Amino acid sequence: MKEIIDVELKTRKVEFSQCKTDMLAVGLFSDAKGLDKLNKDLDARLNGAIKHLIDLGDFKAKEGTSAVVYGNERVGAKRILLIGLGEKKKAMLDTLRKAAAHTAKKSVETKAKTVGLALHKAFGGKLNAAAMGQACAEGTYFGSYRYDEYITESENGRLDSLQVELIDPDSGKLQKLRKGLADGTALGKAQSFARTLGNRPANVITPASLAAVAKDLARGSKTLSCTVFDEKQMTTKGMGGVLAVGSGSKNEPRFIVLKHSPAGKAAGTRPTVALVGKAITFDSGGISIKPAANMEEMKLDKSGGLAVLGTMKAVAELGLPVNVLGIVPSAENMPSGTSYRPGDIINTFSGKTVEVQNTDAEGRMILCDGLHYAVQQKCDVIIDIATLTGACVVALGKYMAGLMGNDDGLIKQLQKASEDCGEKVWPMPSGDEYAKEMKSRIADLKNVSGRWGGACTAAAFLGQFVGQTTWAHLDMAGVWSFDKATEFTAEGASGYGVRLLTTYLTNLAKAKKK
Ligand code: BES
Ligand code: MN
Ligand code: ZN
Repeated sequence: MKEIIDVELKTRKVEFSQCKTDMLAVGLFSDAKGLDKLNKDLDARLNGAIKHLIDLGDFKAKEGTSAVVYGNERVGAKRILLIGLGEKKKAMLDTLRKAAAHTAKKSVETKAKTVGLALHKAFGGKLNAAAMGQACAEGTYFGSYRYDEYITESENGRLDSLQVELIDPDSGKLQKLRKGLADGTALGKAQSFARTLGNRPANVITPASLAAVAKDLARGSKTLSCTVFDEKQMTTKGMGGVLAVGSGSKNEPRFIVLKHSPAGKAAGTRPTVALVGKAITFDSGGISIKPAANMEEMKLDKSGGLAVLGTMKAVAELGLPVNVLGIVPSAENMPSGTSYRPGDIINTFSGKTVEVQNTDAEGRMILCDGLHYAVQQKCDVIIDIATLTGACVVALGKYMAGLMGNDDGLIKQLQKASEDCGEKVWPMPSGDEYAKEMKSRIADLKNVSGRWGGACTAAAFLGQFVGQTTWAHLDMAGVWSFDKATEFTAEGASGYGVRLLTTYLTNLAKAKKK
């Protein structure tokens, strides 16, 4: 898949003030007393322009703000972008990631083709240098991303490539920063891949075309293999959940499996982590149809599946020494004469029967088959990710995903990964009380319960398909997109989950090595 904007990331040994570039980015803290050494030097060369801007009150270095000062003959850069980092004590890796994203977004907007990143300098020794290099790369991809592949009438064009250099006069420091660049690039590209697929509409991304994308991923990789079950094969296997949801659409469902088998002798003994992602290419609600307002957003209902595909891409690129099985059941939820209906009783892949009370609770109907497949493949750990419930958005808003599961250790590992990568999660319950609500009078389970705690009852429904396997569930309904552009991102699909799941697996690989 072609990238929307080509990003090139390098390091360069150069004195900050001498770096010839279209845009030199430096960071400042809002609570700093005076300028640090780097900014003081630049300020002197710029005849006090930075100080002047601050004294006038035009730039307070609050997080998410920036200001431009133009260069002169005493500095190499055409523009100096001052990036606000907020309070120093609150600063963390994600502050740097967002600052790099902000820089990339501003650079694309102003058509500054080359960028010198000196943002790491403000953090001093507070953060690990390789981690800073990685965060700068991730942020650069994230901030430069925009979705415009269908715009044919652009007024004055835009950058089709961005060249970013992490700069420092100290070659030792550069070497450490450079260590994180490859990982950050792999993650950044994988996240943009998920964003582009997310933004593509349902007349372009169907279950079959998504399966073709997964096949393509495997074709381009040594460690990935891809298997796709079509409707006929799913019928033979008895994957009644996916089939039921897919039955209303002309675009037939697919069951996509991507396997990452790293090279090396020990690979066979390593635990297999299953990632199960919901990929509803369009959720109209089916016969229990949704209201018209904002229904176009429901093209994003494949985002959990994309988080899994993006993670598989990153994991393969990084060559992580962990066995990973990516499972992506995909269907289009449409109303028609062939749709599944409220009242139908479905034989799911696991053998459990489910009474359908609302065809709009379709995510759990496809995920239960995906989860059972993971159990059947004897995976040691199962993590599912889905845009599952509006109730989760009501509970948490649009900032973090809900995190449920049956194992405190796995929940803690995911919370740790979340802190490392900046994609937020919040723990929520899904125990016996909630599971009880999902019992049907005429089948083993029903697919909806009462009004309250909808995210928790949905998770509890899923929990009944994993048996004794260690399992976690991420409800990413709230974080699937940005409603508006912000200082560090364009609007549209977020690509959430790629960094979270990849970081979880990276941490797992590191722990195994010890
Ligand atoms: N895909 C939706 C959940 C959703 C809603 C995601 C809003 C993002 C934003 C899911 O399939 C759905 O329709 N869930 C229903 C469940 C209900 C019928 C029990 C919901 O949340 O209303
Ligand atoms: Mn739905
Ligand atoms: Zn849905």
